[in-house]
Amino acid sequence: MERISVGIAMNGVTGRMGYNQHLVRSILDIREQGGLPSRSGVIWPEPVLVGRNESKLRAIADRHGLRRWTTSLDEALAEPDVQVYFDAQTTNLHDKAITQAIEAGKHVYAEKPLAERLDTALALALAAKSAGVRTGIVQDKLFLPGLRKLKRLIDGGFFGRLLSVRGEFGYWVFEGDWQPAQRPSWNYRVEDGGGVTLDMFCHWEYVLHNLFGRVRGVQALAATHIPERVDESGAPYRATADDAVYGIFELDGGVVAQINSSWTTRVFRDELVEFQVDGTHGSAVAGLRRCRVQHRSVTPKPVWNPDIESTEDFRAQWAEVPDNEPFDNGFKVQWEAFLRHVVDGDPWEHDFVAAARGVQLAELGLRSSTEGRRLVVPELAL
Ligand SMILES: NC(=O)c1ccc[n+]([C@@H]2O[C@H](COP(=O)([O-])OP(=O)(O)OC[C@H]3O[C@@H](n4cnc5c(N)ncnc54)[C@H](O)[C@@H]3O)[C@@H](O)[C@H]2O)c1
Repeated sequence: MERISVGIAMNGVTGRMGYNQHLVRSILDIREQGGLPSRSGVIWPEPVLVGRNESKLRAIADRHGLRRWTTSLDEALAEPDVQVYFDAQTTNLHDKAITQAIEAGKHVYAEKPLAERLDTALALALAAKSAGVRTGIVQDKLFLPGLRKLKRLIDGGFFGRLLSVRGEFGYWVFEGDWQPAQRPSWNYRVEDGGGVTLDMFCHWEYVLHNLFGRVRGVQALAATHIPERVDESGAPYRATADDAVYGIFELDGGVVAQINSSWTTRVFRDELVEFQVDGTHGSAVAGLRRCRVQHRSVTPKPVWNPDIESTEDFRAQWAEVPDNEPFDNGFKVQWEAFLRHVVDGDPWEHDFVAAARGVQLAELGLRSSTEGRRLVVPELAL
């Protein structure tokens, strides 16, 4: 089979997501498996590392036997074999670099959120459309085993009529004073593109939309529970961004979703995110990897009586949904679909309009919180 080399300028590969999920577990893994079979041939991703710090880039390139890296985005975009620009920089830097890539005629793939504001996200979507380049936004949660199993249940009609979704996302992110924080400090500064609403509502938009129905209304309360934190260099800073958000989403078909997203909660769950889905015929609890169900036929009949010790082991009454198929890394699965979309024009729905819907929901969530009221989510069109 013919080998089709696709040059990818990868910006932000010194960061958490850019390095671990995108470079190592996606692009390098695709190379390790001998490339990606597609209709036209075997796609061979050829990364060109882009970043600010020469020594960090050189170290990554050396560690993985890569030859091409640069601190100049212009230089990377001028490479004739570079067809794709990928951006995993901090969110506030996406706009400028992505605009530059679109102007250079490159297809673009970006980490979410695409931008901090809806108008910026829509402008990028429009610019890409006018330039005739293909676009992609990371929507990794759709490819997680737990959510794939949940989708299988929905497609198989397990739930009957869907009623509601209750999501819990979060964990304790250390303040950085007596133990270093496990997330970058820009996440807690609104001026640097931080905030849990912006970070998570763009995930919840595509999760809810793809599994249960389009989001038509939102009501949220965002909070900054920890107002001061300590950064990577040990310096205290003011946390200007929200670190928890409590949201209610109204979906097509009358389904109600309620999701808490928090970096200021301690985990008493089996996984860092879990969704309980209730339907007339059954319920499910899905996490990152697991999914458990209870059908109406085996639903117990608890009776409220706080005076006696509960005799039911409620958790034991749920059945595990089996994998039934192998699940690869979600980021890699999405990269493979994007590369096939670029090379073969295979169908793809995770484009910049989808990205803009995520930013829209975050923006409306924050506005709902400030204004203290429910807001309608208008349909987006370019
Ligand atoms: N899909 C997901 O689940 C997921 C999870 C976390 C983060 N993200 C997104 O990925 C992107 C990167 O997040 P991350 O957690 O990897 O961040 P990070 O801080 O670990 O990495 C940020 C990258 O941007 C670069 N950068 C360039 N200029 C910078 C500046 N002035 N300040 C700080 N960094 C600068 C850094 O060198 C680094 O390569 C963000 O858009 C974020 O929202 C997505």
